[in-house]
Amino acid sequence: MIGKDIDESRQGEVLDMPAEVQGEGKKLYLESYGCAMNFSDSEIVAAILKEKGYTTTTAMADADVIFVNTCAVRDNAEQRVRQRLNDYRKIKRTKPGLIIGVLGCMAERIKSKILEEEKLVDIVVGPDAYRDLPNLLESAKDGRKAVNVILSKEETYADISPVRLQSNGITAFISITRGCDNMCTFCVVPFTRGRERSRNPETIVKEATELFEQGYREVTLLGQNVDSYLWTGGGLKKDNLSKEELAQATSFAQLLEQVALIHPDLRVRFSTSHPKDMNDDVLHTMARHENICNYIHLPVQSGSTRLLEMMNRGYTREWYLERIEAIKNIIPDCSISTDTISGFCSETEDDHQDTLRLMEDVKYHFAYMFSYSERPKTMAERQFDDDVAEEVKKRRLKEIVDLQLLHSAIRTREGLGKVHRVLIEGVSKKSKEQFFGRNSQNTTVVFPKGNLKPGDYVNVLATSCTSATLIGKVV
Ligand code: SAM
Ligand code: SF4
Ligand code: F3S
Repeated sequence: MIGKDIDESRQGEVLDMPAEVQGEGKKLYLESYGCAMNFSDSEIVAAILKEKGYTTTTAMADADVIFVNTCAVRDNAEQRVRQRLNDYRKIKRTKPGLIIGVLGCMAERIKSKILEEEKLVDIVVGPDAYRDLPNLLESAKDGRKAVNVILSKEETYADISPVRLQSNGITAFISITRGCDNMCTFCVVPFTRGRERSRNPETIVKEATELFEQGYREVTLLGQNVDSYLWTGGGLKKDNLSKEELAQATSFAQLLEQVALIHPDLRVRFSTSHPKDMNDDVLHTMARHENICNYIHLPVQSGSTRLLEMMNRGYTREWYLERIEAIKNIIPDCSISTDTISGFCSETEDDHQDTLRLMEDVKYHFAYMFSYSERPKTMAERQFDDDVAEEVKKRRLKEIVDLQLLHSAIRTREGLGKVHRVLIEGVSKKSKEQFFGRNSQNTTVVFPKGNLKPGDYVNVLATSCTSATLIGKVV
């Protein structure tokens, strides 16, 4: 893939609410952009509205309500949403009662200004205010614009059973934390999602258990920094925890173990790990449990310690490489992926070369690579000049992408001649006669269907490959 101001004031307060708000079978079309957490949030939105009688539809033309769950991480993510709003505009012209809502990170970033900029929008809701959606919808039905962008220090939607959208019935996301306290200088997420909160581990284990009972075979635990997960009886992390409180708290490694113990046939993945917080406990827990997948997404952002400091990432190049060594020592067949940003403020050719050299050292299996996009109100926007020319950013990004393509191909080829345990997820896009699934290391594996079915585990001998996919036969 190439690619807060925390508003405590409630805007668009709805008065005279009816006691019971009902969707009366109205149809909701919900489109999601951004990261896995946003997709997971859309499933919470669908659950909240299902309770009120709304059903989801995949046909936009049939919808009574269109929601777009937005991302604000880079400018192009917001531009994509603006384009989508143009498409909705056309439908609204032919269907005047249609309600259009902007949800998620862009809603939180721009707040009620969206209503001025995009006249067709009726509802603006931030990521912590989804429980208010039924009320906001009632208000919009009465022709009043409705906004709720209050960020919360407690909300984790822990009690809500998500409605699985576009589900393959085999793999599912479970959010374990919300928000982020890290304040990387380039990043808008702490402003759009607020303070970091951990979710009660009992509710996480319950959700994973129910998924397993429904036939799901893989859960991915989600958080902006899963390693900082800490449940101390409440979600928000307290400063200066006493020894007793720490001894009673649930850490990420402990949570991971609890989920892994649900059933050996339930695969567990997680994302995103943070290099400054990922400790050996987590790695040893992964090594102990066969069903915790050997795959870690460990975004580096830059290979230059000077830039890492400017980014406020909390680690140096040497620290990062030491963490990579720890992964390789404790889980020898673990695959590793990363995120990189090209052209961050003041990045020199030497800094860029540092990133390329680090990539050579690690040889990532996969990477998500971006060029720097300055975001309003972030520390970087306030403190540094966005001074790397656009064509230089693009050229450096291309060099990173080209190198990564080589490394991905090398890593994929390493899987040849080996037997991979694959969880079948569905029919291959390229051939109806073949299934696809992933191995523990997250590489896609394609093989003939035989008498198998999605949800089965199967051993596949990889006999050939493309740059990113292993092709094989069941053994
Ligand atoms: N929490 C994760 C972490 O710390 O690595 C990542 C979250 S962020 C939603 C996903 C990725 O977007 C980041 O790892 C970073 O590479 C990229 N990103 C964030 N802000 C960016 C910006 N202003 N310009 C370009 N890329 C950005
Ligand atoms: Fe953004 Fe940094 Fe938090 Fe990741 S850890 S979401 S990059 S502030
Ligand atoms: Fe985008 Fe928000 Fe995720 S800004 S990447 S949708 S947390």
